[in-house]
Amino acid sequence: MAVAEQENPLVQGLERLPVHPTTLVIFGGTGDLAHRKLLPAVYNLAHDGSLPERFNLIAVSRSDIAHDDYRAMARESITQYSRTPPDEQVLSKLLERVRYVPGTFDVDSLFAQLGEELKQFDEEAGIVFNRVFYLSTAPQFFTLIVGKLGEHALSHCEDAEVRVVIEKPFGTSLAEARELNREVLSVLDERQVFRIDHYLGKETVQNMLAFRFANGMFEPIWNRNFIDYVQITAAEDLGIGRRAGYYDHAGALRDLVQNHMLQLLTLLCMEPPVTFSANDVRDEKVKVLHAIHPPTAEAVPQITVRAQYTAGMAEGKEVPGYLDEEGVPDDSRTETYVALRLEVDNWRWAGVPIYVRTGKRLARKVTEIAVQLKPVPHLAFQAEGSVGVQPNQLIMTMQPNEGVSLSLGAKIPGTRMRIRPVNMEFLYGTAFLSQSPEAYERLIMDAMRGDATLFTRDDEVEAQWRICDPILQAWASEDGALPTYPAGTSGPAEANRLLADGQRWRTI
Ligand code: BG6
Repeated sequence: MAVAEQENPLVQGLERLPVHPTTLVIFGGTGDLAHRKLLPAVYNLAHDGSLPERFNLIAVSRSDIAHDDYRAMARESITQYSRTPPDEQVLSKLLERVRYVPGTFDVDSLFAQLGEELKQFDEEAGIVFNRVFYLSTAPQFFTLIVGKLGEHALSHCEDAEVRVVIEKPFGTSLAEARELNREVLSVLDERQVFRIDHYLGKETVQNMLAFRFANGMFEPIWNRNFIDYVQITAAEDLGIGRRAGYYDHAGALRDLVQNHMLQLLTLLCMEPPVTFSANDVRDEKVKVLHAIHPPTAEAVPQITVRAQYTAGMAEGKEVPGYLDEEGVPDDSRTETYVALRLEVDNWRWAGVPIYVRTGKRLARKVTEIAVQLKPVPHLAFQAEGSVGVQPNQLIMTMQPNEGVSLSLGAKIPGTRMRIRPVNMEFLYGTAFLSQSPEAYERLIMDAMRGDATLFTRDDEVEAQWRICDPILQAWASEDGALPTYPAGTSGPAEANRLLADGQRWRTI
């Protein structure tokens, strides 16, 4: 269990504490994530004036390059991927504070040199910087790096905070996640550990909390008495690209459901927390996960559908099927699509099916939660020839076209009482004219602040795996042919069998 946090009342509200001077250390500093997301995020934080006044960055990686070579690489990454065109003055100032430490993670001299660099930054500034170690490496290095930080006395510091951000995947099974937690927590306290789920950094995902808990009008209907069913969709039009090495061992359930989609589900279903402190929010999320019974082996075929994409069309071009993607074995049974029927078995949600689906190479990219309300008990208008009266539907769209829409039955203008659904919409793009920060900007900032609200706690990640593990195990013992769907479509027809009579999947 997580240790009690030191709650600061300022962190609980909208006001934020100033961020202590920090040195951010990125392990895997030349990797793809650093290149496309982390460095541009740090630049944008600098550009917005959000970084602490005194900030340093150390990149650690295998390539044997000099500080200046790394600075040139970082400049290129930022120029290519920043969400705002880089301002030369801000960029140069930031790069002056960047250093590079080469080496492999199992070598002690690397950590000795890292310790020296950290000390030098402290001595030059005459203060002790907080340290945030960001593990943006392959998962097999997580425990190695944390262990070495411990051995080299870098995991704790008397005069400053030390925090460790751990990228996904956090294990590939419950046993692995438990072991990883055990090893990490043998060196660090839970309050130092920030397990990333980048979905929680998305504005629209955080808006779920605002939507539910800053508006009184939804609470009375947010339960089994009014809600018929829920559909959570994370559809992607892209294939697996060059990630076969990772993806073929992961599959859709591990890649998106265990983390991102269960996060969406918990935010949708959780009870109002007493405060917005990290542990109060996460306590409520964990309760939701505990209310989902891990499926038995017999239940798995009834509540899950998995499938693989075959050749089809994407963006007007012919694209290969999964088995023909580079690096995928011909006999792979890895799912690129999964649909599940889950139930949160508690007072609020018992009996409400929660459908979750995700897939690669679907017709379009869309992440949304659709809450289908129950139909009205009696339709007095039927005799008037009203066609198309539908139960209300509330759609929260995470991406693209971020916003919330509520369908309402409205009278069609005319001399007859005819009704059809219309939408009441809130769109981020038009309601707020400012550009949203990237998820990683918010999360890097929060890790530097020590606010773990948007990070996954040890018991939370294990509770997520407790739901997914039995599904993976049951699938592993099946050997029939996997259902398929052509690339560029809405997924396999088999997914319909999860739905009850009268229910249907929303169009992707
Ligand atoms: C990552 C998965 O965690 O999330 C990818 O590994 C997936 O396979 C990505 O494409 C989706 O993130 P987003 O922000 O594009 O919805």
